[in-house]
Amino acid sequence: MRHLRVPNREVEDALLTLRDRGWLATGMRVIPDEDDDYRLVPLDPGAPIEMTNPLDSHQLVQHEGVVDNRVDTDWWNHLALLVDEEEIEAFGEDWPSSHEFISDMMVVRIEPNLDPYSSRIAEAKLRAHPHIRLVLNDEGVQGELRIRKLTPIGARVDGDIITENIPQSACSTRVLVRESGRSIACDPNKAYFSTKLQSERLETLSLSKELRAILGRPINVCDPFCGVGPALSTLLSESELVNHVLASDLNPEAVALLLDNLGRWDRRDYPSEPSPISRIFEDRIVGIADATRLLEDDSLTGRWDLIIVNLPHRTIEFLPSLMPLLELSTPSLVRGRVIVPESEIPGANEEIKRSLPRLLTGFPEPSLRIKRDYSSSLRLCSFEAWISPQQT
Ligand SMILES: C[S@@+](CC[C@H](N)C(=O)[O-])C[C@H]1O[C@@H](n2cnc3c(N)ncnc32)[C@H](O)[C@@H]1O
Repeated sequence: MRHLRVPNREVEDALLTLRDRGWLATGMRVIPDEDDDYRLVPLDPGAPIEMTNPLDSHQLVQHEGVVDNRVDTDWWNHLALLVDEEEIEAFGEDWPSSHEFISDMMVVRIEPNLDPYSSRIAEAKLRAHPHIRLVLNDEGVQGELRIRKLTPIGARVDGDIITENIPQSACSTRVLVRESGRSIACDPNKAYFSTKLQSERLETLSLSKELRAILGRPINVCDPFCGVGPALSTLLSESELVNHVLASDLNPEAVALLLDNLGRWDRRDYPSEPSPISRIFEDRIVGIADATRLLEDDSLTGRWDLIIVNLPHRTIEFLPSLMPLLELSTPSLVRGRVIVPESEIPGANEEIKRSLPRLLTGFPEPSLRIKRDYSSSLRLCSFEAWISPQQT
C-alpha cells in the first residue's frame, strides 16, 4: 500500500490536508519509518499517483498497510451483541476479520464452518461500517473468465440493515472505484476486478516510464487479458506515456465495462456494446478476443512495446503464443503474473526464459517475485522481462 513518508513534526499537518482531500486511507494506521524521525501515513487507493502542493515535498513509498485495530474492534463489538461469547471464542481465527472494500460494497470470505453465522457477520460489518451498502460473501474466483462468485449476505436499504430476502434492487454490484485519481467502472459479479492490485499497476507504470526513456518515445501497449482495463487506467493517466493501445478480453461483460472506462479516460466516444476486436480509433484496437489467437492477425503482430500478461494460472502456458505480438526492432518489455508452487519457482523462471526472445543485456533476467500466498502451497508472483531488439 502507498504511504507518504512525513517528518514527525509535519505529520499532523499532512493528516489534515490528506483528510481534507479524501486521500487518507480509512481503517489503516500511521506507522513508524525505519528512520525514527519519520512516519509513514497510509494513502487511500483513490489518491492521485503524484501528490500536489504542499504534500509533494514528501516521498511516496510502498509498505505493507497495518490495519487500525481500534476501528476493527468496532465490528467485534457489534458481533459480540449478536453472537454468544463462547461461540465467538470457539471459532477463533475463522471469523472474517479482514475484508475488501469495492466502492460502497464490502467483500468478505466466510469459512464454510461459519455459514450459519453469515447473516450476523453481515449485520455486524454493516453496523461497524456505516458507509457500506452491500456485504458480499466471496466464494472464490471461478472458470476461465476468473469471475468471483459473490453472494449478497446483507444490505442497507433506506437506512435499515437487511440480511434475509434482500431485494434485487439493493444487490447491484456495478460500481465506480476511485484508484490513483481515476474512476474505474467495474462489476465484480460480471468481470474480474481486484482493488488489491494497485501496487502492481503502479510498478507497471514505473517500468513503462523506464521503457519510454529507453525508446525515447511514447510506448505501444498490448493488454490482451485486460478485464475492465485497470492497468490501462494507470498507464493512460501519465501524459505522453502511451501511444497505441490493444485492449482485449474473452469476457464480453468485461469489454462492455472497458468501453465505458476508455470513453471516460480517453474522453472519446466509444461504442457502448462489446464486439469482436477491431480498430475503434487509429490508436485504439479494442474488443472481445481470445489472446492466444491474436497472432493469427498480421495487422496485430510485431507492433507492441509492452505486453501485459495477467492470467496468472496460465501465463507460462500462453507466453509463446503472445511473443509474435512484440515489436522486435527495438527493446520491449513483458510484464506478467504467475501462480506457482513455491518449490517450483526456479523451474518456472527457466520456462519463462525459454518462451521469450533474446533478453536485453545490462538488465536483470526475468525472475518471479512472490507477491502473496495464493493458497497454502501456491504463490502469486510477478515478473518483468526486458527483450532485446532481434537481428534479422
Ligand atoms: C486475472 S483477470 C485480469 C484482468 C485485468 N487485467 C485486471 O488486472 O483486472 C484475467 C482476465 O483474462 C480474461 N481471459 C481468460 N482467458 C482469456 C483468453 N484466452 N483470452 C483473453 N482473455 C482471457 C478473463 O476474462 C479475465 O478478465
